[in-house]
Amino acid sequence: MSKVQELSERYSIAEREAQYLLFDPNAQLENTTVLKFDKIYCYPKDKVMPGFFQIQNRRYLGNKYKLTVFISDILREKCGSIQSICDIFAGTGVVGSYFNKRNIRITTNDILYSNYAALRTFMGVTDIDLNKLKEKIDFLNSLRPAKDNYFSLNFGNTYFTLENSRKIGAIREKIEELSANEEEKLVLTTSLMYAVDKVANTVGHYDAFRKKLDTVNPLVLLLPSIKIENNFNNEVYCEDANQLVQKINCDVLYIDPPYNSRQYCDAYHLLENLARWDKPDVYGVAKKMDRGNLKSNYCLKSATKAFAELIRYAKCKHILVSYNNTGESKDCRSNARIKDSEIVNILKRKGDVQIFERNYKAFTTGKSSGEGHTERIFYCKVGV
Ligand SMILES: C[S@@+](CC[C@H](N)C(=O)[O-])C[C@H]1O[C@@H](n2cnc3c(N)ncnc32)[C@H](O)[C@@H]1O
Repeated sequence: MSKVQELSERYSIAEREAQYLLFDPNAQLENTTVLKFDKIYCYPKDKVMPGFFQIQNRRYLGNKYKLTVFISDILREKCGSIQSICDIFAGTGVVGSYFNKRNIRITTNDILYSNYAALRTFMGVTDIDLNKLKEKIDFLNSLRPAKDNYFSLNFGNTYFTLENSRKIGAIREKIEELSANEEEKLVLTTSLMYAVDKVANTVGHYDAFRKKLDTVNPLVLLLPSIKIENNFNNEVYCEDANQLVQKINCDVLYIDPPYNSRQYCDAYHLLENLARWDKPDVYGVAKKMDRGNLKSNYCLKSATKAFAELIRYAKCKHILVSYNNTGESKDCRSNARIKDSEIVNILKRKGDVQIFERNYKAFTTGKSSGEGHTERIFYCKVGV
């Protein structure tokens, strides 16, 4: 069956027209303004706060901490005064957090529960006694388990020293008993996850551990640096973005999906396992649990269709999309799932589109060069 026949069978006339636009391999970025930013960007410097950790103090693939000022420039220029922003693929939450002020409602969302825990901690907490929390953190830090547990049996002497892995497992177990409520449990779990990142024998994700186990610093939990006064009208979700988008509305929708076939649940399975604490069986050298229900459509061939559906249901005034241009690489896992022309064509159905571009150093696995990489924001003014 030809591609055209196949599409005719599957879609209604209106949908068919849309599909032709999406899948046209020769579609160009004609009539779309590309604005290059040559400004040198600095990103907000970490404020050193002894005893505390901040939202950006973790390693996370594709995090946009260094792009927050670039994003903010575009927002200021294009969106004027805004009352609400939704960061619908929030990951670490650094973008939503950058705009988190008393008079702005920030909605954050991520499909991973481990990210949800951190998003709730930094952007959802409205009532927490930091003195009591400090007492609990001091107690957790004082644990010295001598026996093995679920975590040390599965992850000891690989991702962590045996001593640290025993401590991580024992602390996570105690968090279940010690937490006064769900919010406190999420905050303590987040403190543990940030501490774990500092002692993990990895290059920043859990697809593999480094052969030489030389990350031997002891595990230390710190207090999160939270600005509670900014959180009162915020919302935090742990849902598939395509489902959530049908239930919410906002002034600005910021969209930063995965770009390629690398599933975040594969890269962060260990943190997800730790946050959920269902103690599932784990498999293979990398000790991954079953992640069937956490896979993202944005990493599959159906990414373009998922993106089109997301935009179709978006109820907002402005859309900003981050998508990098790694292009074709020898490592097919690095190839972008959605073409630039497809992003533009889909957004154009909602309103006027412009592309903002600046140079940026890409994350690279070593197989793709990352040379000449630019970071782009596709901007759409809805309804124009
Ligand atoms: C490129 S990262 C976002 C990085 C984020 N902007 C930051 O600065 O940390 C993409 C995120 O989308 C999440 N994700 C993937 N598919 C999703 C889906 N269908 N719905 C919601 N979140 C999803 C992943 O777990 C990952 O955290």
